[in-house]
Amino acid sequence: MTRPAALQFKDVNLDEIAGLTGRVAVFVEESGKLDQTARRVNRLTKGALERFAESTSFNEMKVGDSKELAYPAGMAAEWLNVVKLDRKPSTSDARKAGAGLGKAKGAGALHVLAGNLKLVSDLALGVLLRAYTFDDHKSADPKSSEPVEIYVNDISVLDGEAEAVTAVAEGVFMTRDLTSEPANVLTTTEFADRIAAMSDLGLKVTVLEEPELEKLGMRTLLSVGQGSDSPSKVAIMEWHGGADGDAPLALVGKGVVFDTGGISLKPAAGMEDMTMDMGGAGVVAGVMRTLALRKAKANVVGLVGLVENMPSGNATRPGDVVTSMKGDTVEIINTDAEGRLVLADVLWYAQETYKPRGVIDLATLTGAVIIGLGHEMAGVFSNNDDLAGQFLTAAKAEGEGAWRLPLDPAYDKQLKSHIADMKNVGGRPAGSITAAQFLQRFVLDDMPWIHLDIAGVASVKSETAYAPKGSTGWGVRALDRLIRDTIEG
Ligand code: BES
Ligand code: MN
Ligand code: ZN
Repeated sequence: MTRPAALQFKDVNLDEIAGLTGRVAVFVEESGKLDQTARRVNRLTKGALERFAESTSFNEMKVGDSKELAYPAGMAAEWLNVVKLDRKPSTSDARKAGAGLGKAKGAGALHVLAGNLKLVSDLALGVLLRAYTFDDHKSADPKSSEPVEIYVNDISVLDGEAEAVTAVAEGVFMTRDLTSEPANVLTTTEFADRIAAMSDLGLKVTVLEEPELEKLGMRTLLSVGQGSDSPSKVAIMEWHGGADGDAPLALVGKGVVFDTGGISLKPAAGMEDMTMDMGGAGVVAGVMRTLALRKAKANVVGLVGLVENMPSGNATRPGDVVTSMKGDTVEIINTDAEGRLVLADVLWYAQETYKPRGVIDLATLTGAVIIGLGHEMAGVFSNNDDLAGQFLTAAKAEGEGAWRLPLDPAYDKQLKSHIADMKNVGGRPAGSITAAQFLQRFVLDDMPWIHLDIAGVASVKSETAYAPKGSTGWGVRALDRLIRDTIEG
C-alpha cells in the first residue's frame, strides 16, 4: 500500500535554514517581494534570490510554478525550489504550488519555508497528492517517501491540520492503488480483504459471499461473475460517525476487477486498461477510508459489487434473461454492458437495507462518456437538482471535473425488450444516458440519487495537476467535501 509522506508543520527557525539538507522550497510574491525566510535565503546565497526575482525567467513564471536552483551557495541544501506565490493565494493556486513541489520531491525529503503564507494546508495537500507513485511492482530499490516539513510563523492555527490533510491523501492513495493494481493481484477476494482490513479504522465491514447473494436474488450481479473462477462478492463498509438513527448516505461502486467483455469479448488492443474497471468501487473504499481516518461526523455506508467479467463455459450468453433482486427481468444483449447489471442489484440492496437519505453511485460505466467529455470531466446524472447542485459545487471546489448530463424517460424506448422487462443496452446513440436510464429503474422514485460515470477520469494516460499518469483518485475529495459541507454542516 502506498502511504503519503509524513507531514509535519514546524516553527520557523531562521538560523536553521542554512543547515537544511535535501530540497528546500521558498516563496517569492508576484511583485518580487521576499518574506522573512526568503530574505534569509537571499542573504545566505549572497543575493541570488533577489536577482532571480528580478529576472525575466521569474517574470515569465505562472503563479504556483517553481524553478529549481541546484546546490545553492551558502546552504547545505542540494536543491532550492523558488515558488511564485502570493502570501494570500487562492485555494487552487496554493494546491497547484504544492503539487509542483510534490512532483519535484518524488521520494526525497522536502522542507518548505512557508513563514506567513496562508492556506498552507492546501499547499501540503497538493504536495502529498502529487508525490504519489505506484511502484509496488517495481523490483528496484523500493523507496519509502521521506517527510514533508513545512515551517510556519504561527503553528497554533494548524492544530490537527497535518492529520486532516493526511486523511484525505490516504483515501486518495487507497483509491489510486486499487485502481492501478493488475487483476491477477486485485482479485475479488483480495479487494474484499483490503476492505475488511479497514475494520481496524472503526468501519463495520461485511462481505456477502455468493450463497448469500443467491439467497438475496442478486441474479443480475451474479450473471456477470459466473464465468470467472473468482467468486462474486458484495462488500459493505459502514461508518457511524453521525447521530444514531440519522439515515446514512449510501455510496455504491462498480467493482469489476477485470472486464474482458465476457462472451461479447472486447478487442485485444487496450484490453489491459480494463484492470481499472473497479474504479468506482475504488473511490467508495477511498472515501470510506478518509471518513474513518478523520472521524467524520456523518453516517455513511459504502457498498461495492466485486465481480470479474470473463468468458468461459459457464459465462452468461448474449440473449440470456436474468431476474434482478428487485424482480425486474433483463435480457442481456451484450455481456460487455455488465457494470449496470452489477449496480442494479447493489443499488436495490442498498436502498432496501439502509433506507438511505440519498444514494451516489460511481462506475467506469461507458466508453461513450469518454467520447462526450473526454478525460477532464465525469458525467453526472441525477434525479434531484439540490443534491446534484451540491455535488457539482463540491467537485468544483476540489478541482475535480464534473458535468451534468440529462436523464429523460424519452430514452427508455431504447431499452425495450421483446421478451423481458428491459434489455441491457440501448444502442449507440446516447450510450451514457441509456446506461443511466437503466440504473434509474433500480432507484426508488423519491430517492435522491446521483450516478457518476467516471470511465474517462478514473485513470488517464498523462499526468494531471495532482497525479502522475495512471489512476487519479477522482471523486474522493469531492465526495469527502460533499459529506463535510452538507451532512456534517
Ligand atoms: N468498462 C466498460 C466501459 C469503459 C470503457 C470504461 C473505457 C473505461 C474505459 C463497460 O463495461 C463497457 O464495456 N461498456 C460498453 C457498453 C456497451 C456494450 C453498451 C461500452 O462502453 O462500449
Ligand atoms: Mn464492459
Ligand atoms: Zn465494464
